[in-house]
Amino acid sequence: MLAARTPFNTKAIDRISLHIPAGQFVAIMGPTGSGKTTLGQLMGGLILPQSGVVRIGPYRVHKKSDRLGLWKTIGFLFQFPEHQVIEDTVFNHIGARLHRLSTRREWVAEQVKQTMEAVGLCFSQFKDRSPFQISGGELRRIALAGVLITEPKILILDEPTAGLDNWERSRVLSYIKQVHNERKMTVLYMTHRLEEALEYADRILVLDHGQLYADFHPCNIRDHWQRLERIGFVKTPLLRFIDSLEERSANKLLESVYKEEQLISFITTLSKEEL
Ligand SMILES: Nc1ncnc2c1ncn2[C@@H]1O[C@H](COP(=O)(O)OP(=O)(O)O)[C@@H](O)[C@H]1O
Ligand SMILES: [Mg+2]
Repeated sequence: MLAARTPFNTKAIDRISLHIPAGQFVAIMGPTGSGKTTLGQLMGGLILPQSGVVRIGPYRVHKKSDRLGLWKTIGFLFQFPEHQVIEDTVFNHIGARLHRLSTRREWVAEQVKQTMEAVGLCFSQFKDRSPFQISGGELRRIALAGVLITEPKILILDEPTAGLDNWERSRVLSYIKQVHNERKMTVLYMTHRLEEALEYADRILVLDHGQLYADFHPCNIRDHWQRLERIGFVKTPLLRFIDSLEERSANKLLESVYKEEQLISFITTLSKEEL
């Protein structure tokens, strides 16, 4: 809520009640202004609710001492990376939190190098650059590296692929998915891109006007489609393709297809049956 007790008082998030189990990969979607960033900031303890409770594992965000503990377990990637990358060099930014934990400079340097390369940034080319001397996409990947290097238990990513080109996007997405598979951390992934949510998430939360509009597993996207269309959702090429395939084949198995690899195995099974 903003500017309480004035005409500008707005509810950015209203009456949302939900539980996210540890390890879940949750996509948070919804039109611009629907409250995605506000919800992420509440869950990360960066802002406090005017009423209600936010509990993350053993922490309650209302307690200052809990918030300090919470921030050690959370990695937060801001919607605008320029708000986050503030050190003088790329190396110092990515290694900042590790430097505080360890005095072993070679170990920190090795961790920074590995993390930079995992997000597609050449260590020798970028390490000494100022964050002001790089492109928007590179800055976003630097911010992501700075968040992931500390191995957070909860990762909150506010539109991490916005402004990235196709190569950068697939690099960043596959890295996020890889660390999620390896470390089993909880991921809250805010995005406008339905194809990313369908491909990577275990659960999709949709917000509209600050309220929880839908909450479903990606395999149930079709059950929610009419309502989603009402708030501006547009089918991905894969969903359109499945629709037209279904019109022609009337095959019940298609109902559970929402990912590329599932479609490929469906088509492969079909062609084997026909042989
Ligand atoms: N700093 C702010 N000042 C004024 N209004 C804000 C601010 N941040 C967010 N809002 C308002 O809160 C609502 C939710 O915004 P936000 O959480 O940023 O949505 P989203 O991330 O889905 O685009 C919107 O109505 C937005 O205009
Ligand atoms: Mg936002």
